[in-house]
Amino acid sequence: MKVFKKIDEIRKYIKEQQKEGKTIGLVPTMGYLHEGHLSLIKKSSEENNITVVSIFVNPTQFGENEDLDQYPRDLERDVKLAEKANATAIFASEAEEIYPKGYQTYVNVKHLTKHLCGLRRPGHFKGVTTIVTKLFNIINPDKAYFGQKDAQQAIVIKRMVKDLNLDIEIVVCPIVRESDGLAKSSRNTYLSKEERNQSTVLFLSLMIAKQMIEDGERHAVVIKKSIEKNIKNESLAEIDYVSISNIETLKEIEVIKGEVLIALAVKIGNTRLIDNIQLEVNDVN
Ligand code: PAJ
Repeated sequence: MKVFKKIDEIRKYIKEQQKEGKTIGLVPTMGYLHEGHLSLIKKSSEENNITVVSIFVNPTQFGENEDLDQYPRDLERDVKLAEKANATAIFASEAEEIYPKGYQTYVNVKHLTKHLCGLRRPGHFKGVTTIVTKLFNIINPDKAYFGQKDAQQAIVIKRMVKDLNLDIEIVVCPIVRESDGLAKSSRNTYLSKEERNQSTVLFLSLMIAKQMIEDGERHAVVIKKSIEKNIKNESLAEIDYVSISNIETLKEIEVIKGEVLIALAVKIGNTRLIDNIQLEVNDVN
């Protein structure tokens, strides 16, 4: 497996592959790979001749008081895991290579980023859309793979691709979970034993919401209250947001109808975790 650190070098490699008629899949990550990432790599390797995994803890998507410095990093481990999952190449560059001195250009998706995580993490999505655009321009992939785990991120990126006429197919893959339901995340490594125990509250709350909807509840406010009550039972949990929104606009809805995103962000101790489910409700009346 090839590991590239320089933009010029990976570009040269990609051009050679494309000349031979090979298709390119890109899996953008911030590293410290887990089975969630690996599911995207596997999917890409099934659908493309070449799978490039980018590993870059992108500073522009972290807020001032967030965990940029603390974020777990282990390139050697990631290379091994990516290779096992059938990746062909890794692009792992340094911040100076991606944002050299004088850097000042950003990509911004205006409205979808004003809700959910965008409200709580101002500037976050601007950092995400900027780095993803740069990776698209460097790697020039046919397809790029993202996880449903970051539902808003996938929606924002699809919008950006459409708005900017990028000729890249965005593939969104299902959430990979631990056996007790906790969504896999590089940030789960921050959790103490007690925090880890309490962290299942996100998934369990989503399951309560799903059950309420299956039982006929249609008032978003009632479902949100139930979720909030459930989360408050956990001593180490602090709600960041509980959202029930329209999947297209990400605007909060009052009545459950059509394609709905139920999304949570909860701090367990100092660790902010997110999770979501997507449901479709088509009542006859
Ligand atoms: P990161 O958090 O490393 O995630 C990389 C990709 O893996 C994202 O598309 C994310 O949705 C997906 N992923 C994470 N956990 C998952 C899980 N449990 N199941 C399925 N997919 C999962 O998201 C980012 O990095 C960054 O914002 C990035 C897009 C790389 C831009 O810097």
